[in-house]
Amino acid sequence: MTQGTFDLYWIASNPLVRGQGVGAALVSGMEGDIRRRQGRLIRVETSAMEAYGPTRGFYAAMQYKEESRFRDFYKPGEDLIILAKRL
Ligand SMILES: CC(C)(COP(=O)(O)OP(=O)(O)OC[C@H]1O[C@@H](n2cnc3c(N)ncnc32)[C@H](O)[C@@H]1OP(=O)(O)O)[C@@H](O)C(=O)NCCC(=O)NCCS
Repeated sequence: MTQGTFDLYWIASNPLVRGQGVGAALVSGMEGDIRRRQGRLIRVETSAMEAYGPTRGFYAAMQYKEESRFRDFYKPGEDLIILAKRL
């Protein structure tokens, strides 16, 4: 239903090997695959609670930027944040 837009629905690396490049390798592989499919835009949804925790550092390092925010989505005071990266 979109033109060249993809959704990074879920990503996780084994806690025993975090901080060793596994997450970056997964994102890089995904982005390469999306480029080959002529994709142009990747969306990630996360909660404000997660976004201000470790995952924010990860997505910032991967160049995903906040695109929009749905206030109080998860519960009062917990926003849904949409991050995006244009390839
Ligand atoms: C988010 C997650 C996938 C990162 O995986 P990882 O294997 O630790 O990531 P990497 O080691 O490849 O790190 C990639 C980059 O992100 C940065 N990063 C990773 N965790 C970070 C943290 N807690 N704080 C700041 N930066 C962080 C690294 O410094 C690295 O940046 P660099 O290349 O500039 O050095 C992992 O922490 C995880 O599985 N978390 C639980 C599930 C989750 O929250 N998923 C995302 C929400 S859907």
